[in-house]
Amino acid sequence: MKMPEIAFVNGAFMPLEEAVVSIEDRGFQFADGVYEVLATYGGQLFAAQAHYQRLERSLEALHIELDIKAYGLHELVLEGIERSGFTDVLVYIQVTRGVAPRHHEFPVPKPEPTVVVTVKKVRRPPAEFYRNGVEVITQPDLRWQRCDIKSIALLANILAKQEAAAAGVYEALLVNGEGHVTEGSSTSAFCVRDGAVWTAPEGPHILPSITRSILLELARACDIEVAEAHLSVDQYLRADEVFLAGTTTEAMPVVRIDGRQIGRGQPGPVTQRIRQAFLQTLTAD
Ligand code: PDD
Repeated sequence: MKMPEIAFVNGAFMPLEEAVVSIEDRGFQFADGVYEVLATYGGQLFAAQAHYQRLERSLEALHIELDIKAYGLHELVLEGIERSGFTDVLVYIQVTRGVAPRHHEFPVPKPEPTVVVTVKKVRRPPAEFYRNGVEVITQPDLRWQRCDIKSIALLANILAKQEAAAAGVYEALLVNGEGHVTEGSSTSAFCVRDGAVWTAPEGPHILPSITRSILLELARACDIEVAEAHLSVDQYLRADEVFLAGTTTEAMPVVRIDGRQIGRGQPGPVTQRIRQAFLQTLTAD
């Protein structure tokens, strides 16, 4: 049976609106869980292994014991896509520590982790965003010191994104206590200076984004120099080009930060080359 938007919850597929978890789930009580977001292009999952590897790392960091291979997570994801009947979907995977009475420490005995997968039709940004570029604002990075874990605790990200939404712009660039741009609230951030692509290095202050590493690899393959360093807001403002990256965002040109024009105020050549290279990987077989 085909059902458009679909959820898998602890062993069973169901229509999205019927999917529920216990209020004693530690995901609900403590945001004690991790997640992944994957997209398909033409029905094919993009960079699936990289997403599963990051999920394994996030689970390990929180000591949540789930062997995703033994669980058959990939097969479940494929089944969810097949059941949804959509070609271009967004797959959301969430694993929490499970259901237990509310005490902060890890429950003993260990509950079974809660595994949720949802499959929805993907909503990609409109073409004119890529054509004209988007605007962003800066916001303080109020997140914790393990942003490398893809935790479902996203309150600081949400508050920043809401400020961006309220300002009518695409994204909030997060700026930490040292005045460095770490990343966007749900994207990685890059700037281009003298032809080279600059972005914050991997570490506890950013998510090791899958799109980020693919774009950096593509840039190197295009003979574009890549540098990983902590950059200030001022360096972003004075950059020739700025762009964002993420699973649904892909490579998105930024033309204004806090109302100030970046470069010529239109998508720059390096961003466009990298975006083209990215689009080519989707069609190359
Ligand atoms: N966000 N940085 C942050 C803080 C993110 O939340 C994301 C992804 C990225 C880009 O990562 P990737 O290239 O692996 O998608 C960077 C997802 C899509 C989300 O929360 O919906």
